[in-house]
Amino acid sequence: MFGTMCEVRLTKVHEGLNLKDKAGLVTGGASGIGREIAILMAHKGASVAILDVDFARAAAVEKEIGNQTKQSLAIPGDVSIAGQVEMAYKTMLSEFGRLDILVNCAAIGTNETTLTTTEYLWETIMSTNLKGVFICSKLAVEIMLNQGHGGSIINICSTAANNARVGGIAYSTSKAGVVQFTKSLALEMGPYGIRVNAVSPSLTDFDHGQNPKSTSSYRKAFIEQTPLGRTAQAVEIANTVIFLASEDAKFITGEVIHVDGGYSAGKFTVKD
Ligand SMILES: NC(=O)c1ccc[n+]([C@@H]2O[C@H](COP(=O)([O-])OP(=O)(O)OC[C@H]3O[C@@H](n4cnc5c(N)ncnc54)[C@H](O)[C@@H]3O)[C@@H](O)[C@H]2O)c1
Repeated sequence: MFGTMCEVRLTKVHEGLNLKDKAGLVTGGASGIGREIAILMAHKGASVAILDVDFARAAAVEKEIGNQTKQSLAIPGDVSIAGQVEMAYKTMLSEFGRLDILVNCAAIGTNETTLTTTEYLWETIMSTNLKGVFICSKLAVEIMLNQGHGGSIINICSTAANNARVGGIAYSTSKAGVVQFTKSLALEMGPYGIRVNAVSPSLTDFDHGQNPKSTSSYRKAFIEQTPLGRTAQAVEIANTVIFLASEDAKFITGEVIHVDGGYSAGKFTVKD
């Protein structure tokens, strides 16, 4: 009897993490963290569209997912151009017939200070990292509201949103904007069952190697300031995204989950 009850409870837990019959769009899904999210989402049963400026790499991810027998679709497009995002959703809806999950992952980073950041670079970062999240989310909620069965939006943020560093002026500012955008949209969309959350990774490695954009001194400094003493793995970010997209997270909205080994918890004591 006890065994049977346990089985029932376990079955329920597993049902939650199933994304069967759902359809998601992952921006920036052609590489790094976004690629990992797209693959895991397909693995959990969802149909997945990958929207990326790098169509060749997006198509390669589509092929990879195809091998897992899930429906997938690579779509070329720039998240900062509303017309292109609109076309992407049209293509996705004509193929999958629905949109349940949006993951805003596309972003670009910089290593510039205020003095070395040009107005053009500032606008490029804000357009991709912040305006892109606005455009993709606005069009997604229009579709989700029309469908009438809620939805889940997950924004990939960064520990940089809360932890300033020299060389991250535009990037950190854009990601801090994404945090506030996440909370504001969560308030607006709660009454319609559309949940909006964010995941904030620390320095993340992918493709079975070290993050190609990180220098060894940057990695060392990051690891030293991380209580769990290492960088993140892209799959750890993807796992949290899939949880937030799933029914297991159905009472979570307006939340920012740090997947950072404790990096954002605070500064710890200087070692002797
Ligand atoms: N990797 C890390 O250490 C780390 C840490 C914290 C947060 N993040 C965040 O995670 C996300 C993914 O980072 P990553 O390191 O995997 O990056 P990445 O550079 O490997 O992937 C980003 C993808 O976005 C695409 N892209 C860029 N601009 C675009 C645009 N305008 N329209 C559509 N697609 C565009 C790129 O072609 C690329 O495929 C980003 O939001 C980043 O800020 C990454």
